[in-house]
Amino acid sequence: MKTLLLFALSLPLLAKDPYFFEKPYLQLGNRPQPTKGDLDLMWLGHDKDVDFAVEYKSGSSWRKATPKMLRRVDFKGTDAHRVYAASLANLKPGVTFNYRISVAGKSVFESSAMARKSAKQNSHFVVFGDCAADTPGQRQVAFHAAQQNPDYIFIPGDIVYSRGRVSEYQTNFWPVYNHESASPTTGAPLLRSTLFAAGVGNHDSQPEIDLTKNPDPLAYHLYWSQPLNGPASKFIPHFMGDDALKAKYLDAAKGNFPGMANFSFDYASVHWTVIDSNTYVDWTDSELRAWLEKDLKAAATAKWRLVSFHHPPFNSSKQAHFKEQRLRVISDLLEKYKVDLVLSGHVHDYQRTFPLTFAIEPGFVLGKNQEVPGKWTLDKAYDGAKNTRPKGVIYITTGAGGAGQYPKEFNVGPDYWQEFTTRFVAFPHSFSVIDTTAKSLTFRQINADGKEVDRFVITR
Ligand SMILES: [Fe+2]
Repeated sequence: MKTLLLFALSLPLLAKDPYFFEKPYLQLGNRPQPTKGDLDLMWLGHDKDVDFAVEYKSGSSWRKATPKMLRRVDFKGTDAHRVYAASLANLKPGVTFNYRISVAGKSVFESSAMARKSAKQNSHFVVFGDCAADTPGQRQVAFHAAQQNPDYIFIPGDIVYSRGRVSEYQTNFWPVYNHESASPTTGAPLLRSTLFAAGVGNHDSQPEIDLTKNPDPLAYHLYWSQPLNGPASKFIPHFMGDDALKAKYLDAAKGNFPGMANFSFDYASVHWTVIDSNTYVDWTDSELRAWLEKDLKAAATAKWRLVSFHHPPFNSSKQAHFKEQRLRVISDLLEKYKVDLVLSGHVHDYQRTFPLTFAIEPGFVLGKNQEVPGKWTLDKAYDGAKNTRPKGVIYITTGAGGAGQYPKEFNVGPDYWQEFTTRFVAFPHSFSVIDTTAKSLTFRQINADGKEVDRFVITR
């Protein structure tokens, strides 16, 4: 009995890695444009001074990178830890490289990953939203996404449930996407080998952050390192509670909050514009619209233009968020600058619209009820197989990455859908796989059993 008790008491100590609070992961860093194949290698260390060294091998010889301690995370309810990053420079675009992290001359972690691709390369990537909720579906999706061996994974918001907190990343995010081995019941060692990028959803950020209830909020701005080329928006969450806690958070998130909510980047021949569609942001604001317009206009030379925000403007799910149509107010810009796909989440299923254009009802003013009335024109001749030239924007909801689904919608058919929807898969969980070349974009939706449930092609 005594031995058993000692064993049980020692379990958390055994489980804790002596060097890493959380193991390495790959990020774009503040690089809107590719600089060779460069990436940031990041990890979380314990709250003590450790002399980490990073080496990476692209080609025949090992090179050194200098790790920097970016921030210290010390909030109530979680163990204090430190966020580190090392810039891996001069990587050969699209080529696999090895890396290792050492402490006192001893290698403590090794893995490999692929360098960021350049404009002329084809790409192959995965998209799923509404994911880290600690569910069997999340692990299945992580496993099958890893089987795709993607260049990168993009999450269009609701990254971590239920409040995007530091403590929730520890239970719901790192253990699944950086699991030591791959299986449908555990997840996969993705983060250490595959670049992740993301935008914020309503579970990652809220209009009001109550620090008394959530003392470790907005972990997105602490852990992610993404381009900081977006506008310094005046529309940000409002902090409530203790001023000292607020100061502590802002100090920890220095440089990343609120700047990382809206940004854009290029990966291979794809231009991504990522924007925050939370209710505290007014996308009828002239400054925000001007930034969006400038960004999309500058992307005219990219082969493919993808825009991502969390709340889908064209949604057929009556079970969830049906009236949250706010982002229809930017449909004119998406159409004018020939955006190919809009990728959203929020609604925990998969939906695809016909290619469409939207005319807002004349005299409309966005109100609190969030509905945006108007008239859509649908390109029903486009089928994505024989006719691959859409007239309009295709809106995708890919929010089936792991969070709970809506049982009443499992068996409903087209009669239930809005007129603009052409494909709707409510169950089981699923994710999107996109392949781009200079001439074609192939979109597939794969479910949690690994089965393809939708496919369409766009050609130039
Ligand atoms: Fe959401």
